[in-house]
Amino acid sequence: TENPLVIFTPSGKRGRFPVGTPVLTAARQLGVDLDSVCGGRGICSKCQITPGVGDFAKHGLHVEADALSAWNKVEARYDEKRGLKAGRRLGCQATVQKDVVIDVPAESQVHRQVVRKRAELRDIVINPSTKLYYVEVKEPDMHDPSGDLERLRDALHDQWELENVAADLHILQEMQPVLRKGDWKVTVAIHLGDHENNPRIMHIWPGFYDGTIYGLAVDLGSTTIAAHLCDLQTGEVIASSGVMNPQIRFGEDLMSRVSYSMMNAGGAAEMTQAVREGMNALFTQIGIEANIDKSLIVDAVFVCNPVMHHLLLGIDPFELGQAPFALATSNALRLRADDLDLNIHESARVYLLPCIAGHVGADAAAVALSEHPNHSDDLVLIVDVGTNAEILLGNREKVLACSSPTGPAFEGAQISSGQRAAPGAIERVEIDPATKLPRFKVIGCDMWSDEDGFEAMIAQTGVTGICGSGIIEMVAEMRIHGILDAPGLIGSPEQTGSAAVFADGRTYSYLVYDGTPLGGPKITVTNRDIREIQMAKAALYSGARLLMDKFGVEKVDRVVLAGAFGAHISNKHAMVLGMIPDVPLDKVTSAGNAAGTGARIALLNREARAEIEETVRQIHKVETAIEPRFQEHFVNASAIPNAVDPFPLLRS
Ligand code: FES
Repeated sequence: TENPLVIFTPSGKRGRFPVGTPVLTAARQLGVDLDSVCGGRGICSKCQITPGVGDFAKHGLHVEADALSAWNKVEARYDEKRGLKAGRRLGCQATVQKDVVIDVPAESQVHRQVVRKRAELRDIVINPSTKLYYVEVKEPDMHDPSGDLERLRDALHDQWELENVAADLHILQEMQPVLRKGDWKVTVAIHLGDHENNPRIMHIWPGFYDGTIYGLAVDLGSTTIAAHLCDLQTGEVIASSGVMNPQIRFGEDLMSRVSYSMMNAGGAAEMTQAVREGMNALFTQIGIEANIDKSLIVDAVFVCNPVMHHLLLGIDPFELGQAPFALATSNALRLRADDLDLNIHESARVYLLPCIAGHVGADAAAVALSEHPNHSDDLVLIVDVGTNAEILLGNREKVLACSSPTGPAFEGAQISSGQRAAPGAIERVEIDPATKLPRFKVIGCDMWSDEDGFEAMIAQTGVTGICGSGIIEMVAEMRIHGILDAPGLIGSPEQTGSAAVFADGRTYSYLVYDGTPLGGPKITVTNRDIREIQMAKAALYSGARLLMDKFGVEKVDRVVLAGAFGAHISNKHAMVLGMIPDVPLDKVTSAGNAAGTGARIALLNREARAEIEETVRQIHKVETAIEPRFQEHFVNASAIPNAVDPFPLLRS
């Protein structure tokens, strides 16, 4: 008679196996993704499966209740001690008796996908660089003079097929008592290595370690440092937190920090120390928030722009401040936490994504990893708006990248009433076509400013200023309603028909809100503010336009706005302003914090690291500073929306 048929769901993989084959063995042979940390010893319970019973018409199979063996002692003991959910079995203990359909629940799959949170739509396949392995090590004896580490390595080889496993000195220092305490059974966390490094033991626990190990995805920005703490086994984000980058005291933007290092002996070292301290404070905070021991953080991935990259590493960013903007290295880096003075597990691995060029950093690489322009059939323009805009343009054929110095105006800086996005900041604006007076919404309040009770609602915060998304809408609305002409001049009250316009020195300004009766500020948009926004948006647009020239196209198929800021910009207003090229509005999407997502992908999936390194090698870098056409595009793009480029879709 034929061997019993085993069908796994959801994969649909199937095969025949002799009676008595453990389900875990069958799964391994068929390449079914079924987890195991203890190697089939009935300890870890990662191998749980659910056998079906009854008719499976789709497979033409009737499955009987005794298709798998009855519970053995190991399984019964596990159930008694820790409890198995109804219908669940341990795949390493249950053996095949008759034809059977076996479901592998998501939590028993190694390469399961985690759905990204909220606005984040894509899944990440979990395949981390550091994993846990339970092993049983041969005891030493007088006839076999090998060392404990050698026998541990043999066990890893025999039981897990791990070759050439290395161990740091601290592992050697801890290992002997741990092996004896665990009665020669231990769990080790192993960093799996890659083409450059052997697998390496990171940590060792006596017996079966039932806990979790963690990783950090860190987005090191010039203004803020944000980190996600992830469970490396499930991929789940356990906690997220952010702090201001303490380097702010050395200069708001990148170039002022580069000049600080040029002007001050030891300036770069001071900034390196500041950012590392800030990072450690953040890690402590996140550890407390998640209520975990920081020494269980064994892996970390960093994304950042080139200047932050160098300062984090303790490399003077001097060369990045002058042509030809040479990076110390553009390759991805694999380091240890103690190389960077980070207070997490002492030998935690740190991975820095590759930089694309002297002005286009690992943050842009992370955006590429998250948004995959190189897999796109249509031509996609991705802009990550910050003090520097990183711009990617491409499709399957090729991908181009550049960065463009937008300055901090989009973050509300250098705008007379500008401020960061915080409660009290104006974030939405509409101008009435008849009266030419503004109405607006502030962060933290659901009402429009012209609704009854608005002032009572905002009594707590008041109206304190205009944030980046607010100023974009403001300027675009002013242009739409004729308060502003194409070159960017605010007209007189007579020309504009708006009572909100008033003479302000040699130019006109626009009154948005007079908070003085309530003790707040008077919020206005001056012609200088308009000028700042024109410069910022012209920098962004001309970078994109230059890449389009290089690609040989006049238009793009779709636009992705990345960055926290991108999520808040109104597409329509961005286009009225001429920040982005003319595309149908439904072809403009927001990717949220794509750089942070890219960091998380690289943390949770080791293959993604090789993938992005390969992708970055193929990205063509365009240096805006040496392209004469950039200046030309910049001048044209200073007009709103543009002096020469048509915006036909906008008009319609
Ligand atoms: Fe660990 Fe089955 S593999 S309990």
